[in-house]
Amino acid sequence: MSRGLFITLEGGEGAGKSTQLDYIRRRIEAAGIPLHVTREPGGTPLAEQIRDLLLERCEEAMAADTELLLMFAARAQHLAVLIRPALARGEWVLCDRFTDATYAYQGGGRGIEPARIAVLEDWVQGDLRPDLTLLLDVPVAVGMARVGQRGELDRFEREQRDFFERVRAAYLARAAAEPERFRIIDAAEDVAGVQRQIDAVLTPLLARYGATSP
Ligand SMILES: Nc1ncnc2c1ncn2[C@@H]1O[C@H](COP(=O)(O)OP(=O)(O)OP(=O)(O)O)[C@@H](O)[C@H]1O
Ligand SMILES: [Mg+2]
Repeated sequence: MSRGLFITLEGGEGAGKSTQLDYIRRRIEAAGIPLHVTREPGGTPLAEQIRDLLLERCEEAMAADTELLLMFAARAQHLAVLIRPALARGEWVLCDRFTDATYAYQGGGRGIEPARIAVLEDWVQGDLRPDLTLLLDVPVAVGMARVGQRGELDRFEREQRDFFERVRAAYLARAAAEPERFRIIDAAEDVAGVQRQIDAVLTPLLARYGATSP
């Protein structure tokens, strides 16, 4: 049995990842493909505890390296407990953020050298990489306006605008460097418009796995 597909959803705050995750889930499940939907940081009870450490505001400033290592600690647990076993069983995994987010936030945002992130990526993941990454790209102001309607902001959401501009630029640079893995989605469109763009990617993919149209 071949391993399942590993699909990740990326993009800045308010791009619409969580909104579209459910739509993508329904399309894959309707095709009769066994699927795990999960997120990072988190995805297992222990990894979710690490997520809480990462997102909670704390009086002691978190060093950038601490943040980076916690991200990969959570990822190691998620891979060991959920992602690798599911893929090995032939199930698909759909993950809200993965290592591209580390390059974007800890790399672009915090200024950590990508080469240092790559060392941890190889160390924690071996040669496992997502098969397909949907980058929901939205101007920072649009994403922030969407998120601004939420209640209390987490540790990342409290960053300044230029931080998110660097995050967005880092995401786009990664997509440009790996065009075969990435699909850039214009997430400034309305929900239906974003879904249409996602369909254009998913329909041929699901057809290849013997699945039906929406
Ligand atoms: N295409 C869209 N047009 C307008 N509003 C949208 C669109 N997609 C999502 N929203 C709204 O924007 C807000 C943020 O969306 P969502 O939570 O899906 O973003 P996200 O990418 O998961 O953000 P985060 O990175 O903070 O988790 C929600 O209130 C959602 O209803
Ligand atoms: Mg979300």
